[in-house]
Amino acid sequence: MATLIVHGGAGRWDPRIPRAEIDAGLDRALETGWRALEDGALSAVVAAVTALEDDPHFNAGIGAVRNADGEVELDAGVMTAEGLRTGAVAGMTDSASPVSVARAVLEDGRHVLLAAAGASRFAAEWGLPLAGRERLRESARALPGSAGGTVGAVCRDDRGGLAVAVSTGGVSGKFPGRVGDSAICGAGFYADAPGAACATGQGEAFIRLAGCRRAVELLAAGLDAPTCATRLIEELAERVGGEGGIIVVDATGRPGVARNTRDMPWAWRTEVGTARWSPA
Ligand code: GLY
Repeated sequence: MATLIVHGGAGRWDPRIPRAEIDAGLDRALETGWRALEDGALSAVVAAVTALEDDPHFNAGIGAVRNADGEVELDAGVMTAEGLRTGAVAGMTDSASPVSVARAVLEDGRHVLLAAAGASRFAAEWGLPLAGRERLRESARALPGSAGGTVGAVCRDDRGGLAVAVSTGGVSGKFPGRVGDSAICGAGFYADAPGAACATGQGEAFIRLAGCRRAVELLAAGLDAPTCATRLIEELAERVGGEGGIIVVDATGRPGVARNTRDMPWAWRTEVGTARWSPA
């Protein structure tokens, strides 16, 4: 069974952002990802996250929050269960789609994580578009208030392929150079034979827990996806005092979602239906 789950970030969503606009963004991401499914789970999650990066309502790509210096520094990562292939970027200041650069790092295969100027140079060498630093800074958080943190997607395709993609502007007002879990394989994202997981929320907590690797371990131990997601967020709170959310898909395509923040808009689609939650 094919399953695609997307989320728009855990946190407290500003009530001035209309629910219909959040829903529209999630629906667009789900549709875009679903259309890409014929090319497999990795294409589906990257397409879904790219759609969220292009939407100023979400803290990623053109909607990213700024650091303490007023600059945008973006992190992103991707992974497939098959071959444990992964790619990530950290601290990019000039890409409106760091998840596309992370995918190129995966496809290239020499490295798993590129940062800052090196990531930009790599993107240019791969012919990926770079946005002017000024443009990203000016577009950052053009909408009122602060949105959630991080966007992401997990997918099981109908051939059994599993993949995850994540992208974020990180924490608003962060110290320049701070890197969060979305660039760290095992922390903010992970995929292996039992399933795929994607985190959102306090990156430092997910890094300390190796949260998404832990979620996949829980699946391997026999938990189903909903129970795994709930248990992981309990452990996040109990072991490292963290706040956040997680989306999980297991090897059969069963979806799981959990959070301990007030909000975390998400949506999923399977061959038999759809479901969605967003803040009222
Ligand atoms: N979870 C995103 C971050 O902390 O950067």
